[in-house]
Amino acid sequence: METSIVDVVIGMQYGDEGKGKIANQMAASGEYDYVLRFNGGGNAGHTIYLNGEKIVTHLVPCGLLHGIPSVIGNGCVINTQKLFDELEYLRGFGFDTSLLKIAENAHIITQEHIDEDSKDTTIGTTRTGNGPCYKDKVARTGLRAKDIPELEPYLIDMHTLIHCQSKKFLAEGAQGYWLDVDFGDYPYVTSSNTGVGAVLNNGFNYKQVRNVVGVIKCYSTYVGAKGYQKYDERFEMLREIGQEYGATTGRPRQIDWLDLDEVNEACKMNGVDFLIVNKMDVLRQVNSAWNLYEDQMIVNCSDENTFMNRIANYLDPLIDIEFQGQLH
Ligand code: IMP
Ligand code: MG
Repeated sequence: METSIVDVVIGMQYGDEGKGKIANQMAASGEYDYVLRFNGGGNAGHTIYLNGEKIVTHLVPCGLLHGIPSVIGNGCVINTQKLFDELEYLRGFGFDTSLLKIAENAHIITQEHIDEDSKDTTIGTTRTGNGPCYKDKVARTGLRAKDIPELEPYLIDMHTLIHCQSKKFLAEGAQGYWLDVDFGDYPYVTSSNTGVGAVLNNGFNYKQVRNVVGVIKCYSTYVGAKGYQKYDERFEMLREIGQEYGATTGRPRQIDWLDLDEVNEACKMNGVDFLIVNKMDVLRQVNSAWNLYEDQMIVNCSDENTFMNRIANYLDPLIDIEFQGQLH
């Protein structure tokens, strides 16, 4: 029997791995009928360079930039005003925003959620109301998309979308696996599941997942309240050359070397088939910075090739690895 399939793009670190760029490249292939966001909300920031223009989206899937119908799935949380602002911003570039669809059972971020999130001093949240909205979802006191009259033209039912037709979906993750509410460094996590399991919770069954594409940078970054960055003067250079500032909040990201154990575990937990290693050009500009962690020990690789081989040799040999290095 014909069935829908889904390819998934997930960050294997703490967000900001360049998933937006990869999802955008995949959407541009023309292979997909739908692009889907399956977790998070406006806390995410996807930066895409298209025809020389920088476009930053927070909630809308990148399919809209390619004329592909795009879905905000039920695993997401929506700030209605921000969504409408983002649609207007995208119309300004000439994109057809009528292609947007919203799961009727996605949850709605209210002003109270934002006010509550704005009081956060411990986690370093993006203050977008994300956590409090998921809290209400689980407490069964939340508002859903189908309760909001302005969203009516966009609403869809995920079962009908996925199972009453045979289509190809691209699922675009938000945040990264190590910000996952279950598997991340709790409480320094986001309030949703960020791995491949979250795709199933948007209505796909496990047989429909075709390829899982993991995305990392060749160094690590984290933004939030916990102390993450150790001292190395090269980290400041990496931040400037790599422009490591939050796309949503503008906060400087904390920097560290690539952690291969973290990446290895994330690849296993998500069944990664393909791994993209981003920003090789950034690391290349910082002299003798071919460092990475194995088993919490820094390994200094003598050159770029040694660094690449070290990564490939550490991970499951069945994972197809691609290094990318175009600056922005
Ligand atoms: P929240 O998702 O706004 O509740 O923030 C929780 C933690 O996740 C904070 O450390 C945020 O900086 C981090 N975070 C949330 N969204 C992103 C993202 O898209 N990229 C990187 N970090 C994020
Ligand atoms: Mg981001």
